[in-house]
Amino acid sequence: MICLGIESTAHTFGIGIVDDKGNILANEKDSYTTESGGMIPSEASEHHVEACDKVLANALNKAKIKLQHVDLISFSQSPGLGQALRIGAFFSRSLASQLGKPIVGVNHAIAHLEIGRLRTKAKDPILLYASGANTQVIAYHNRKYRVFGETLDIGVGNFLDSFARHLGLGFPGGPKIYELSLHGKKYIPIPYVVKGMDVSFGGILTNVTRKYDSGKFSKEDLAYSIQETVFAMLVEVSERALAHTRKNELVLGGGVACNLRLKEMAKKMCGDRNAKCYIPENEFLVDNGAMIAWLGILKFKSSGPQKIEECIIKPYERTDDVDVTWYG
Ligand code: ATP
Ligand code: FE2
Repeated sequence: MICLGIESTAHTFGIGIVDDKGNILANEKDSYTTESGGMIPSEASEHHVEACDKVLANALNKAKIKLQHVDLISFSQSPGLGQALRIGAFFSRSLASQLGKPIVGVNHAIAHLEIGRLRTKAKDPILLYASGANTQVIAYHNRKYRVFGETLDIGVGNFLDSFARHLGLGFPGGPKIYELSLHGKKYIPIPYVVKGMDVSFGGILTNVTRKYDSGKFSKEDLAYSIQETVFAMLVEVSERALAHTRKNELVLGGGVACNLRLKEMAKKMCGDRNAKCYIPENEFLVDNGAMIAWLGILKFKSSGPQKIEECIIKPYERTDDVDVTWYG
């Protein structure tokens, strides 16, 4: 079985083609970026409208197949920006009806977790899902992916992007903060905000923005201190989730997990407690179509196709709303 998966929750329009053995035949994408930073939802959706045909052609080319060879269409149904999600859902429904093939909608956060399990062979992990809009620590228990901890306000990636934008560094800001951090020489104390199992970044953003505006601190030192602080928060909550669930595998997911310092800190924590740290390749950490295609196969095989009228977007669906029928 070959599934074509369409990702469009936010800035990326991606198409992945995956077979039911887990082989990734193609994983193509095109992302909306801006010089000034930030993202305007209507521009992201316009980007997707313009990119979709080209990304589809690239993916089919890469996989060396024709559209008729596709057995299943899947798409990111939730959560995300309504205007962006709608383009992917519309495109997927059109393809499915044009080809007369079944269609399933999948949850984007769970797709990050499942592609992590596929690529790394982790069996029953905790997922640290650190992306732009989302920051969650997730694990399977009793037919649901439960959220053990999460951000109380913005995602860690949005936090990094907002600070980078304040420095005039453009979007996405995470990689630019990382580059700056390599030249940081001194740790500047900033708030460390862990509340129970949850984290919060809004107050830290205000704090570091004021520090930068005071002119007393270099942006390099601030970038370094920000990374040390917020990544320690994420790793602390992940460690407590491992201890609480008695699981011994951690998988990283989401674009922020491309950060080498976060990878290093997660590996160190796992090493210290004899757990395994699994990190998929960067192309599967960031938003991608392959993860949507793979979860489409898992969902279809366990619960069949969806009616086309059920294939509407669910921008606010939570990770723990989804019935997990395929786990094992
Ligand atoms: P989601 O819909 O899952 O919230 P997303 O739309 O934010 O995802 P992703 O591709 O998962 O998309 O993540 C993008 C985020 O990752 C951006 O905030 C970006 O700044 C951040 N990022 C990318 N590379 C790095 C890096 N090397 N270090 C830190 N952050 C990074
Ligand atoms: Fe994502």
